[in-house]
Amino acid sequence: MLLEIRELSSCINDKVIVNKVNLSVDRGEIHVIMGPNGSGKSTLLSTIMGLPHIRVCNGRILFDGLDITDKPSYERAKLGIALAHQYPPEIKGVKFSDIAKAIISKYGCGDCSLMARILRVDELLDRDLFVGFSGGEKKRSELYLVMLQSPKLALLDEPDSGVDVESIEYIANAIEYLRSRGTAVILVTHTGMITNKLSRINRIHIMINGTIKYNGYPDEVLPVIMKFGYSRGLEVLNRTFKGGI
Ligand SMILES: Nc1ncnc2c1ncn2[C@@H]1O[C@H](COP(=O)(O)OP(=O)(O)OP(=O)(O)O)[C@@H](O)[C@H]1O
Ligand SMILES: [Mg+2]
Repeated sequence: MLLEIRELSSCINDKVIVNKVNLSVDRGEIHVIMGPNGSGKSTLLSTIMGLPHIRVCNGRILFDGLDITDKPSYERAKLGIALAHQYPPEIKGVKFSDIAKAIISKYGCGDCSLMARILRVDELLDRDLFVGFSGGEKKRSELYLVMLQSPKLALLDEPDSGVDVESIEYIANAIEYLRSRGTAVILVTHTGMITNKLSRINRIHIMINGTIKYNGYPDEVLPVIMKFGYSRGLEVLNRTFKGGI
Protein backbone atom coordinates (compact mmCIF):
# COMPACT_ATOMS: atom_id res chain seq x y z
CA MET A 1 0.00 0.00 0.00
CA LEU A 2 1.39 3.46 -0.89
CA LEU A 3 -0.50 5.46 1.74
CA GLU A 4 -1.98 4.12 4.94
CA ILE A 5 -3.71 6.45 7.33
CA ARG A 6 -4.62 4.91 10.66
CA GLU A 7 -7.01 6.49 13.15
CA LEU A 8 -5.72 9.91 12.14
CA SER A 9 -6.91 12.96 14.04
CA SER A 10 -5.54 16.43 13.49
CA CYS A 11 -6.02 19.68 15.35
CA ILE A 12 -5.82 23.37 14.54
CA ASN A 13 -5.39 25.57 17.60
CA ASP A 14 -6.25 22.56 19.80
CA LYS A 15 -9.58 21.99 18.02
CA VAL A 16 -10.00 18.53 16.52
CA ILE A 17 -10.83 18.95 12.81
CA VAL A 18 -9.97 15.56 11.32
CA ASN A 19 -11.29 12.82 13.56
CA LYS A 20 -10.05 9.21 13.49
CA VAL A 21 -9.80 8.83 9.74
CA ASN A 22 -8.68 5.54 8.18
CA LEU A 23 -7.71 5.54 4.51
CA SER A 24 -5.61 3.26 2.32
CA VAL A 25 -4.50 4.28 -1.17
CA ASP A 26 -2.37 2.22 -3.51
CA ARG A 27 -0.24 3.21 -6.52
CA GLY A 28 -2.22 4.39 -9.53
CA GLU A 29 -5.48 4.57 -7.61
CA ILE A 30 -7.87 7.52 -7.61
CA HIS A 31 -9.77 8.21 -4.38
CA VAL A 32 -12.36 10.95 -4.25
CA ILE A 33 -13.33 12.76 -1.05
CA MET A 34 -16.63 14.60 -0.89
CA GLY A 35 -18.46 16.22 1.98
CA PRO A 36 -20.14 19.39 3.17
CA ASN A 37 -18.27 22.70 3.52
CA GLY A 38 -16.19 22.74 6.67
CA SER A 39 -16.19 18.96 7.09
CA GLY A 40 -12.38 18.77 7.11
CA LYS A 41 -11.46 17.69 3.57
CA SER A 42 -8.80 20.36 3.01
CA THR A 43 -7.49 19.84 6.53
CA LEU A 44 -7.10 16.12 5.83
CA LEU A 45 -5.03 16.88 2.69
CA SER A 46 -2.98 19.47 4.60
CA THR A 47 -2.38 16.91 7.35
CA ILE A 48 -1.12 14.35 4.83
CA MET A 49 1.15 17.05 3.34
CA GLY A 50 2.35 17.98 6.85
CA LEU A 51 1.56 21.70 6.70
CA PRO A 52 2.95 23.39 9.81
CA HIS A 53 -0.27 24.94 11.18
CA ILE A 54 -1.71 21.47 11.73
CA ARG A 55 -0.90 19.16 14.62
CA VAL A 56 -1.50 15.43 14.48
CA CYS A 57 -3.26 14.61 17.72
CA ASN A 58 -3.88 10.90 17.12
CA GLY A 59 -2.92 8.12 14.73
CA ARG A 60 -0.22 7.57 12.13
CA ILE A 61 0.46 8.30 8.47
CA LEU A 62 2.49 5.67 6.63
CA PHE A 63 3.81 6.46 3.16
CA ASP A 64 5.71 4.07 0.94
CA GLY A 65 6.69 1.96 3.93
CA LEU A 66 7.80 4.91 6.10
CA ASP A 67 6.08 6.48 9.07
CA ILE A 68 5.91 10.15 8.01
CA THR A 69 3.62 11.38 10.80
CA ASP A 70 6.31 13.59 12.32
CA LYS A 71 8.14 14.58 9.14
CA PRO A 72 8.04 18.18 7.90
CA SER A 73 6.30 18.94 4.63
CA TYR A 74 9.52 19.46 2.62
CA GLU A 75 10.61 15.91 3.49
CA ARG A 76 7.21 14.58 2.47
CA ALA A 77 7.58 16.48 -0.82
CA LYS A 78 10.97 14.84 -1.35
CA LEU A 79 9.39 11.44 -0.71
CA GLY A 80 6.87 12.11 -3.48
CA ILE A 81 3.79 13.83 -2.05
CA ALA A 82 2.50 16.96 -3.80
CA LEU A 83 -0.47 19.18 -2.92
CA ALA A 84 -2.54 21.38 -5.22
CA HIS A 85 -4.15 23.90 -2.84
CA GLN A 86 -7.80 24.83 -2.86
CA TYR A 87 -6.80 28.51 -2.86
CA PRO A 88 -3.31 28.93 -4.35
CA PRO A 89 -1.75 32.12 -2.94
CA GLU A 90 -0.70 34.94 -5.31
CA ILE A 91 3.08 35.29 -5.25
CA LYS A 92 4.20 38.71 -6.46
CA GLY A 93 7.68 39.08 -7.93
CA VAL A 94 8.10 35.35 -8.66
CA LYS A 95 7.54 34.25 -12.23
CA PHE A 96 5.51 31.12 -12.89
CA SER A 97 8.22 30.05 -15.39
CA ASP A 98 10.95 30.42 -12.73
CA ILE A 99 9.11 28.12 -10.34
CA ALA A 100 8.48 25.67 -13.18
CA LYS A 101 12.19 25.80 -14.17
CA ALA A 102 13.26 25.24 -10.54
CA ILE A 103 11.06 22.14 -10.34
CA ILE A 104 12.27 20.90 -13.73
CA SER A 105 15.91 21.35 -12.71
CA LYS A 106 15.22 19.09 -9.71
CA TYR A 107 12.96 16.47 -11.25
CA GLY A 108 13.94 16.65 -14.94
CA CYS A 109 11.71 17.71 -17.79
CA GLY A 110 10.42 14.35 -19.03
CA ASP A 111 7.09 15.20 -20.61
CA CYS A 112 7.00 18.79 -19.37
CA SER A 113 5.94 20.32 -22.67
CA LEU A 114 3.21 17.69 -23.04
CA MET A 115 2.04 18.55 -19.51
CA ALA A 116 1.93 22.26 -20.40
CA ARG A 117 -0.11 21.41 -23.50
CA ILE A 118 -2.54 19.17 -21.58
CA LEU A 119 -3.23 22.01 -19.12
CA ARG A 120 -2.95 24.92 -21.60
CA VAL A 121 -0.59 26.93 -19.37
CA ASP A 122 1.96 28.13 -21.96
CA GLU A 123 0.60 31.65 -22.23
CA LEU A 124 0.67 32.09 -18.43
CA LEU A 125 4.30 31.16 -17.83
CA ASP A 126 5.85 34.63 -18.04
CA ARG A 127 3.48 36.15 -15.45
CA ASP A 128 3.94 36.40 -11.69
CA LEU A 129 2.71 33.19 -10.10
CA PHE A 130 -1.08 33.18 -9.73
CA VAL A 131 -1.18 37.01 -9.66
CA GLY A 132 -4.37 38.12 -11.39
CA PHE A 133 -4.93 34.59 -12.74
CA SER A 134 -8.59 33.69 -13.22
CA GLY A 135 -9.97 30.89 -11.03
CA GLY A 136 -9.57 28.29 -13.78
CA GLU A 137 -6.08 29.53 -14.73
CA LYS A 138 -4.99 29.15 -11.11
CA LYS A 139 -6.29 25.59 -10.95
CA ARG A 140 -4.60 24.54 -14.22
CA SER A 141 -1.32 26.20 -13.24
CA GLU A 142 -1.27 24.67 -9.77
CA LEU A 143 -1.90 21.23 -11.24
CA TYR A 144 0.90 21.78 -13.78
CA LEU A 145 3.36 22.43 -10.92
CA VAL A 146 2.16 19.23 -9.24
CA MET A 147 2.59 17.24 -12.48
CA LEU A 148 6.14 18.53 -12.97
CA GLN A 149 7.07 16.90 -9.65
CA SER A 150 6.05 13.44 -10.95
CA PRO A 151 4.68 12.69 -7.48
CA LYS A 152 3.89 9.25 -6.14
CA LEU A 153 0.84 10.79 -4.46
CA ALA A 154 -1.00 13.89 -5.72
CA LEU A 155 -3.39 15.61 -3.31
CA LEU A 156 -5.79 17.70 -5.40
CA ASP A 157 -8.04 20.05 -3.47
CA GLU A 158 -11.03 20.99 -5.64
CA PRO A 159 -9.11 21.29 -8.92
CA ASP A 160 -12.48 21.65 -10.67
CA SER A 161 -14.00 24.43 -8.53
CA GLY A 162 -14.87 27.51 -10.56
CA VAL A 163 -13.54 25.84 -13.70
CA ASP A 164 -15.33 25.94 -17.07
CA VAL A 165 -16.45 22.77 -18.85
CA GLU A 166 -13.52 22.62 -21.27
CA SER A 167 -10.97 23.25 -18.54
CA ILE A 168 -12.50 20.45 -16.48
CA GLU A 169 -11.72 18.21 -19.43
CA TYR A 170 -8.06 19.39 -19.39
CA ILE A 171 -7.86 18.76 -15.66
CA ALA A 172 -9.38 15.29 -16.04
CA ASN A 173 -6.84 14.57 -18.80
CA ALA A 174 -4.04 15.66 -16.46
CA ILE A 175 -5.33 13.35 -13.72
CA GLU A 176 -5.54 10.47 -16.21
CA TYR A 177 -1.97 11.23 -17.26
CA LEU A 178 -0.82 11.12 -13.63
CA ARG A 179 -2.58 7.82 -13.09
CA SER A 180 -1.02 6.37 -16.26
CA ARG A 181 2.39 7.11 -14.68
CA GLY A 182 1.44 5.25 -11.51
CA THR A 183 0.67 8.34 -9.42
CA ALA A 184 -2.01 7.83 -6.78
CA VAL A 185 -4.51 10.67 -6.55
CA ILE A 186 -6.69 11.89 -3.69
CA LEU A 187 -9.18 14.26 -5.23
CA VAL A 188 -11.47 16.52 -3.23
CA THR A 189 -14.48 17.72 -5.19
CA HIS A 190 -18.03 19.01 -4.72
CA THR A 191 -19.45 17.99 -8.06
CA GLY A 192 -19.83 14.85 -10.10
CA MET A 193 -18.59 16.62 -13.24
CA ILE A 194 -14.95 15.72 -12.97
CA THR A 195 -15.67 12.23 -11.69
CA ASN A 196 -17.76 11.59 -14.83
CA LYS A 197 -14.75 12.40 -16.97
CA LEU A 198 -12.35 10.02 -15.24
CA SER A 199 -12.21 6.50 -16.61
CA ARG A 200 -11.90 4.80 -13.24
CA ILE A 201 -12.29 5.90 -9.64
CA ASN A 202 -11.41 3.36 -6.99
CA ARG A 203 -13.45 4.76 -4.14
CA ILE A 204 -15.54 7.71 -3.07
CA HIS A 205 -15.27 8.67 0.60
CA ILE A 206 -17.88 10.83 2.28
CA MET A 207 -16.49 13.03 5.04
CA ILE A 208 -18.77 14.58 7.63
CA ASN A 209 -17.59 16.50 10.71
CA GLY A 210 -14.02 15.33 10.25
CA THR A 211 -14.86 11.64 9.92
CA ILE A 212 -15.21 9.39 6.87
CA LYS A 213 -18.77 8.15 7.34
CA TYR A 214 -19.09 6.08 4.19
CA ASN A 215 -17.00 4.81 1.34
CA GLY A 216 -18.17 3.06 -1.77
CA TYR A 217 -17.99 2.82 -5.54
CA PRO A 218 -18.82 5.91 -7.61
CA ASP A 219 -21.81 4.31 -9.31
CA GLU A 220 -23.48 3.58 -5.98
CA VAL A 221 -22.48 6.73 -4.09
CA LEU A 222 -22.66 9.63 -6.56
CA PRO A 223 -26.26 9.39 -7.78
CA VAL A 224 -27.54 9.07 -4.20
CA ILE A 225 -25.52 12.02 -2.86
CA MET A 226 -26.38 14.22 -5.83
CA LYS A 227 -30.07 13.43 -5.43
CA PHE A 228 -30.49 13.49 -1.64
CA GLY A 229 -27.52 15.52 -0.32
CA TYR A 230 -25.26 14.28 2.45
CA SER A 231 -27.39 13.58 5.52
CA ARG A 232 -30.38 11.99 3.75
CA GLY A 233 -28.02 10.43 1.17
CA LEU A 234 -26.04 8.64 3.86
CA GLU A 235 -29.21 7.16 5.32
CA VAL A 236 -30.18 5.90 1.86
CA LEU A 237 -26.70 4.49 1.21
CA ASN A 238 -26.55 2.73 4.57
CA ARG A 239 -29.98 1.19 3.96
CA THR A 240 -29.26 0.18 0.37
CA PHE A 241 -25.66 -1.00 0.43
CA LYS A 242 -23.72 -2.95 2.96
CA GLY A 243 -20.39 -1.84 1.41
CA GLY A 244 -20.19 1.30 3.52
CA ILE A 245 -17.93 1.49 6.52
N1 LIG B 1 -6.26 27.79 10.04
C1 LIG B 1 -7.44 27.52 10.62
N2 LIG B 1 -7.77 28.09 11.79
C2 LIG B 1 -8.96 27.82 12.40
N3 LIG B 1 -9.87 26.97 11.91
C3 LIG B 1 -9.59 26.37 10.76
C4 LIG B 1 -8.37 26.62 10.04
N4 LIG B 1 -8.38 25.86 8.92
C5 LIG B 1 -9.56 25.19 8.92
N5 LIG B 1 -10.28 25.51 10.01
C6 LIG B 1 -11.63 25.01 10.34
O1 LIG B 1 -11.63 23.60 10.17
C7 LIG B 1 -12.88 23.18 9.64
C8 LIG B 1 -12.64 22.35 8.39
O2 LIG B 1 -12.11 23.18 7.39
P1 LIG B 1 -11.69 22.61 5.96
O3 LIG B 1 -11.12 23.75 5.20
O4 LIG B 1 -10.82 21.43 6.16
O5 LIG B 1 -13.10 22.16 5.37
P2 LIG B 1 -13.46 21.62 3.92
O6 LIG B 1 -14.16 20.33 4.10
O7 LIG B 1 -12.25 21.63 3.06
O8 LIG B 1 -14.52 22.72 3.44
P3 LIG B 1 -14.80 23.33 1.95
O9 LIG B 1 -15.65 22.32 1.24
O10 LIG B 1 -15.57 24.58 2.25
O11 LIG B 1 -13.50 23.59 1.30
C9 LIG B 1 -13.69 24.46 9.38
O12 LIG B 1 -14.59 24.64 10.45
C10 LIG B 1 -12.64 25.54 9.36
O13 LIG B 1 -13.17 26.80 9.77
MG1 LIG C 1 -11.68 22.71 1.42
